[in-house]
Amino acid sequence: MYCFSATGRTKQVAQYVAQMFSCRLLELSLDWQPDSFENEVAVVVFPVYCQSLPLPVKKALPLISASDFILIATYGRKSFGNALKEAAELVKGRVIGGAYVPISHTYLNEQFQADFSRLDALIERIANPKPIHIPNTWKNPFASFFPLRRGQLGVRMTRERNCNHCGLCAKRCPMNTMLDGKPGRNCIRCMRCVQICPQKALRVTLHPWLKQYLNGKRKNDLLIY
Ligand SMILES: Cc1cc2nc3c(=O)[nH]c(=O)nc-3n(C[C@H](O)[C@H](O)[C@H](O)COP(=O)(O)O)c2cc1C
Repeated sequence: MYCFSATGRTKQVAQYVAQMFSCRLLELSLDWQPDSFENEVAVVVFPVYCQSLPLPVKKALPLISASDFILIATYGRKSFGNALKEAAELVKGRVIGGAYVPISHTYLNEQFQADFSRLDALIERIANPKPIHIPNTWKNPFASFFPLRRGQLGVRMTRERNCNHCGLCAKRCPMNTMLDGKPGRNCIRCMRCVQICPQKALRVTLHPWLKQYLNGKRKNDLLIY
């Protein structure tokens, strides 16, 4: 079982599923190296970023060795784009199950808990594995338009004076782009550094258009394929 989770929200879902399947949870990162396991079934849990997949997930998916895959995408109740289909096209194996799971949004101070027990239905897929069809779902065409740059413009990060240069942000950055409290050009604004900073020395300001977008219509669909 594999998971990418910058702030731990997706990890909660992954932990629920790992317990359900009684399997070990391995975390993916940008420099993740293929392990030596020949998995029968790999379950991969990852968040939707900009209606697509986070770069570390895009890079890791083709490297996971398994005959069958169950793909679970968490999303912040805005839009999941076509993320599962994009993930299914990257894996080298059959996709036998999938799910979109709504969860609290990284950029909003909110508590939202979906009914994870609905994921129990995925146990069936392992007991009786057969390839499934993941349908194309609507993705805003603008979502693929410089997502990295748009994210950086939408989320401003500043290092406050109380930074004591401990280096934890750089050490834990999943993109290896943080340097002494300053995000580098490959920063995906995943917010891990902000969350783990022991000094709370990283300040985040959302651009008004992003705030407006996030406060707009939300959805809570938990879909299982
Ligand atoms: C850079 C970034 C982009 C995101 N894009 C979307 C999105 O397009 N649609 C959505 O519903 N949620 C989006 N989210 C919210 C996350 O999908 C959601 O909060 C996720 O569960 C975060 O998991 P994690 O912090 O454990 O990685 C985004 C979050 C980040 C940080």
